[in-house]
Amino acid sequence: MNKYKIVSLVLAFALLATLVRLVYVSQSEGQPAAAESKASVVFQNILNRKSVRAYADRKVTREQLDTLLRAAMAAPTGRDMRPWKFVVVDDTAALSALAGQLPYAKMLPQAAAAVVVCGDLSVTDDQGKPSTNWTFDCSAATENLLLVAEAMGLGAVWTGVYPYDERVQAVSQALSLPEHIVPLNLIPIGYPEGNPTPKDKYNSDNIHFNAW
Ligand SMILES: Cc1cc2nc3c(=O)[nH]c(=O)nc-3n(C[C@H](O)[C@H](O)[C@H](O)COP(=O)(O)O)c2cc1C
Repeated sequence: MNKYKIVSLVLAFALLATLVRLVYVSQSEGQPAAAESKASVVFQNILNRKSVRAYADRKVTREQLDTLLRAAMAAPTGRDMRPWKFVVVDDTAALSALAGQLPYAKMLPQAAAAVVVCGDLSVTDDQGKPSTNWTFDCSAATENLLLVAEAMGLGAVWTGVYPYDERVQAVSQALSLPEHIVPLNLIPIGYPEGNPTPKDKYNSDNIHFNAW
């Protein structure tokens, strides 16, 4: 091999090494930036969530509702028991009938649909006992649903059912729920009417580090 070939070979190796290094550096620098911007999108969505009680006359598809329910069922649950069922109401007459029973959910007839998040007491642990955490589990599912509704440009609101006996009875009767299915809340869903704004609830007085 002559002198020129050796020099060319060395230069080619040096060029290759520089290229590999450039690709590696740009990738490793890009990753935290991408992760940071993803976190900021998620955080902004959390801050933007608000209760929406007025809805435009616009349909919400079953596909959209399925996305909301997928988010709901991604929630954590005690001992991974998933003690929940979701009753979807997207029939206008049924929404109005429910509103007639529930004075605190007067926005229902305007909504395109509603999801009733229920605890399923027939889901039992290895001792045959129903979950003691079903209200927490269903609450986590509800918050997931509300956050994804916000991200999809939909408006929704948690309206309370459990633990008020008369509300539980009214919803159970209206939806023919079996006894082991307990409605925790009812979430009307639709496209927001007007321009609802989120509340800023951050208060540093609520935070204590290490001890009170
Ligand atoms: C357990 C619970 C029960 C609620 N019940 C109702 C209700 O019956 N009717 C209603 O309009 N909003 C209800 N809300 C929504 C709250 O009023 C609302 O979250 C609160 O005012 C804060 O406003 P934001 O959701 O816009 O941040 C309920 C929320 C929770 C967590």
